[in-house]
Amino acid sequence: MKILVVGGGGREHAIIRSLKKSPDCEKIFACPGNGGIAADAECHPEIGAKDIPAIVDFAIANKIDFAVVAPDDPLVLGCVDALNEKGIPCFGPKANAAIIEGSKAFSKALMAKYNIPTAAFRTFTDKDEALSYVESCPIPTVVKADGLALGKGVLICETREDARAAVRSMMEEGIFGKSGTTVVIEEFLTGPEVSVLAFTDGKCVKPMVSSMDHKRAHDNDEGLNTGGMGTIAPNPYYTADMAERCMREIFIPTIEAMNAEGRTFKGCLYFGLMLTPNGPKVIEYNCRFGDPETQVVLPLLESDLLQIMRACEAGTLAETEVKFSSGAAACVILASRGYPEHYEKGFVITLPETGEKEDIFVAGAAEKDGVLVTSGGRVLGATAVAEDLPAALAAAYALTDRIHFDNAYCRRDIGRRALQALKG
Ligand code: AMP
Ligand code: GLY
Repeated sequence: MKILVVGGGGREHAIIRSLKKSPDCEKIFACPGNGGIAADAECHPEIGAKDIPAIVDFAIANKIDFAVVAPDDPLVLGCVDALNEKGIPCFGPKANAAIIEGSKAFSKALMAKYNIPTAAFRTFTDKDEALSYVESCPIPTVVKADGLALGKGVLICETREDARAAVRSMMEEGIFGKSGTTVVIEEFLTGPEVSVLAFTDGKCVKPMVSSMDHKRAHDNDEGLNTGGMGTIAPNPYYTADMAERCMREIFIPTIEAMNAEGRTFKGCLYFGLMLTPNGPKVIEYNCRFGDPETQVVLPLLESDLLQIMRACEAGTLAETEVKFSSGAAACVILASRGYPEHYEKGFVITLPETGEKEDIFVAGAAEKDGVLVTSGGRVLGATAVAEDLPAALAAAYALTDRIHFDNAYCRRDIGRRALQALKG
């Protein structure tokens, strides 16, 4: 089969590496892909992930048999709908289901209507009402822009003054544009966070191995929020009992709720969970694979990813094997010094040969005059798989030592909390 992957980050690189293992995979194209992905797929940097008409034209011209739409933007904009209209089957939800990530007001209302556990909340479209609410709401509180905001639309407010400022910045100054014209203000929850990505065909749901992201830029969860500085899988806080409870209280009810709303979700549904003292609660839904969660989850997948993705599309997931290895994986992101704020680009990257249990997933790199150079904040993820988490972490850090580019930095404490949890 000829496969098109829409997107161009580390997540897409991990998806492509996994798809390549399938005997049915003949050739993979990526729009736009990146300089590192070019080693594994034919990349088309001239076609951006949001350029839906160009993606559709490309898919028709290249006789694509199956497309995987990975990032949130094209999913929310209807890329799957547009490809399906031309008869091209896809992995990923249609726009009417991708709204589960595209609008927090939608997802919160869905959870309230179907009794899916989440933080208590109020939704506002009127700034004065929002401002008056923050005068009396419990503090700390969390102010969220309704729409997509590059992962930056969530402000944790420790004081009432912070909450007022957050509402004003979104509803008056428009720092997130239209995404912030509606805001959700919600209860501040505490507890370990778990990411669970799940395959679904709209009928059954098969969760992948759990994982843990590290969102802050610096060690000890200090510094600004980033797109993710590293991940580990499985997440030790997510016990078998907890998995069973989440299936019953969250995963199945969410799939059923989307069906009841006439918005059947097919693809990868990402549950961002917080394990609070009052049980697991949904912090957020994403309509796609997580980045960099995918970089630790897919290397542990033993079944055929292409077959699973096709089953999600065809509605045959119940009969399809989804099996993960019993080992662990760790991914350490090497970023450009200064990220997520200002950083320089264009440094030459040298990559080592990788062993069977290692992978380098490239996110922010471009090819220039035949060499790979840095082109983004998060440059690549060094991933290793091993029999347990301590071994996977040691191997991932050892791999980072063999990768070189100027101004590289990484967190030194990826997985530290998980190791502490394992020790009990
Ligand atoms: P999100 O963009 O929705 O994933 O939120 C970003 C991060 O903000 C999450 O990973 C949590 O760490 C934090 N967060 C979001 N909502 C809440 C909440 N209600 N209580 C505490 N922390 C939250
Ligand atoms: N790692 C968080 C996300 O993909 O949204």
